[in-house]
Amino acid sequence: MTHGPFEFDEIGVWSELKLEIVGKYGAAYTNAFKKSDRLKKYYIDGFSGPGAHVSKATGSIVEGSPARALKVSPPFDGYYFIDLNPEKTDYLRSLCGNRSDVHIRTGDCNDILTRNCCRRFNTEITTAPCVSWIHMACISIGK
Ligand SMILES: C[S@@+](CC[C@H](N)C(=O)[O-])C[C@H]1O[C@@H](n2cnc3c(N)ncnc32)[C@H](O)[C@@H]1O
Repeated sequence: MTHGPFEFDEIGVWSELKLEIVGKYGAAYTNAFKKSDRLKKYYIDGFSGPGAHVSKATGSIVEGSPARALKVSPPFDGYYFIDLNPEKTDYLRSLCGNRSDVHIRTGDCNDILTRNCCRRFNTEITTAPCVSWIHMACISIGK
């Protein structure tokens, strides 16, 4: 399915399952820390995509991992979404609106996460528990 200058990726049932897990794991994670006001919780998605896909099974639009993360309750304190493709990050910006807790970067996540991050990003994520969703793997980094 074409949406503006790019086509949404078609995803199989296994990816739809993975996306359900993002929401459930995220909620379990933020719930576990909800009494720890001192600790900040960040959601970092290094391969965020545009925030929407098309289901191979049904042909309908499926919310991507950023959209799932933004619905997690209790919410994370901040969200960092990174994707190589500027058309995808532009689309994601249009989905997220003007939220001060959402930070969207375009580029290689290997560079952005290790070298090009702004000071706030570096300081905050190295002192806070966060969920890092890196493509097919979900890694939890706790401090
Ligand atoms: C499978 S899609 C995104 C899926 C998304 N995390 C979700 O679950 O809805 C993978 C994305 O990774 C992006 N990508 C690939 N290599 C990348 C890299 N080195 N840095 C950042 N983004 C990358 C691609 O542009 C593509 O949009």
